[in-house]
Amino acid sequence: MPKSKKTFLITAGPTVEPIDPVRYISNYSTGEMGYELAKAAKNKGHKVILVSGPTSLEPPKGVKFVPVRTALDMKDAALKYFSRADCVVMTAAVADFRPAAFSAKKLKKTSKKEYLLRLVKNPDILSELGRRKGSKIMVGYSLESDNHIKNAKKKMKSKNLDIVVVNKVSKQTNPFGGGKKDLAIIPKKGPILALKDVSKQKISHILLDKIDIMW
Ligand code: CTP
Repeated sequence: MPKSKKTFLITAGPTVEPIDPVRYISNYSTGEMGYELAKAAKNKGHKVILVSGPTSLEPPKGVKFVPVRTALDMKDAALKYFSRADCVVMTAAVADFRPAAFSAKKLKKTSKKEYLLRLVKNPDILSELGRRKGSKIMVGYSLESDNHIKNAKKKMKSKNLDIVVVNKVSKQTNPFGGGKKDLAIIPKKGPILALKDVSKQKISHILLDKIDIMW
């Protein structure tokens, strides 16, 4: 059992960035990591606020569930609940860009061979929260193809985090969805924990134990 009950703000899933009424930009995130973590934190006796982009998952029982669609919605929800949280874990795969304009009418194909879609940058939610960190424990996720430890450490510094969980993405390792994963948990201080062939349920328990000793 944890030393005391805390409030976790967990984000999960992808964000979807609409182009027109029938199209959007998104990514392959399934939300499983965030939902597993929410369930595990709840079962440990913590309060959980789960802010989630669209997924096919059932929200775990007993957590406050806040569904969102876009990165801008996710940012608003995260900021709304931030002050209540003792720990923020940002597992969401936020789309870095969104279409510069939303077309209220379905876009028609033209005779042109190419179509240029202008994108604008979404806010970095975790960086914005990191700037207001105070005494909260902040955990970020990182997805890297190369130099994963070095890049994750950079993110830890730039986003003002206490822990970064870094997943490798390659032909052999797919961090999305179920199954066993290879990853590393990097704390600001202390040794890096490399995990091989672990389920998201196991990752959740290990991460929560790491967080519990930091209060
Ligand atoms: N994140 C966020 N807002 C964004 C992009 C990412 O809050 N607009 C969060 C993610 O939820 C994750 C962490 O930041 O916890 C790292 O995201 P990642 O996409 O790996 O890193 P980026 O900072 O976007 O850098 P890059 O894509 O260049 O690797």
